[in-house]
Amino acid sequence: MKGIILAGGLGTRMYPCTKVTNKHLLPVFNKPMIYYPLLTMVKASLKDIMIVTGGNYAGDFLRIIGNGKEFGLKDISYTYQEGEGGIADALKLAENFAENDKIFVMLGDNIIEDNIKEDIKSFEAQPSGAKIFLKEVDDPERFGVAEIENGRVINIEEKPKKPKSNLAVIGLYLYDNTVFDIIKTLKPSGRGELEITDVNNAYIKKGNMTYAIIKGWWTDAGTFESLLKASNLVAKKEGFEF
Ligand code: DAU
Repeated sequence: MKGIILAGGLGTRMYPCTKVTNKHLLPVFNKPMIYYPLLTMVKASLKDIMIVTGGNYAGDFLRIIGNGKEFGLKDISYTYQEGEGGIADALKLAENFAENDKIFVMLGDNIIEDNIKEDIKSFEAQPSGAKIFLKEVDDPERFGVAEIENGRVINIEEKPKKPKSNLAVIGLYLYDNTVFDIIKTLKPSGRGELEITDVNNAYIKKGNMTYAIIKGWWTDAGTFESLLKASNLVAKKEGFEF
């Protein structure tokens, strides 16, 4: 299993801060944002990890993460996304790195409390297809939203005005190697991006998608509000109360 962290994009929702740094290097409580997905992967025993980044400050990832030694890794791989063509556009850059392995993809601005080691193990045993993770939220219209019927995901809508459930599709995805063929068939969405939701719906159509609902907290940190929420959740977990 290879790990791929997507930390490209230009972070325009967080201007002016992201005019002088990459969004994923902003602090979440006491660590740069990118540490959290990286630690999630390391705790799940992944050894081969690639970070896809972009923008003007890509070099700063090297200064902060270096060769991955601090995380117990032998080395770490990086690649560069030009522009912000979307999450699936960033993922396609990892095709060579993935070789023919299954992959665990995590968005660089997502933070979870749980260790998902066991889910990864069970996905290793899943013959093919994909697995997504869901979490009940109060504001589903901000996310990809899953519709469940008879214990199966039947559709995902990206940021729906009228969500069909309150189950957000969080930014952690497990895929077999056919994901790269699926990405090649995608067309840009209304916001001009190759959408990860379209990738997931392709697996659903093929009847090859499983899901798990995560127990602990989850948040993105890609807006000022959610960044504050993320810092507070991490601080509380580390025993700080304000
Ligand atoms: O946080 C979970 C949500 O993330 C999902 O529920 C949505 O289905 C999914 O589309 C995504 O929604 P956002 O609109 O919040 O994604 P955003 O554009 O903020 O990108 C999230 C991360 O993906 C970002 O921190 C870095 C990476 N990314 C994004 C883009 C647009 C890239 O690496 N390259 C890109 O071009």
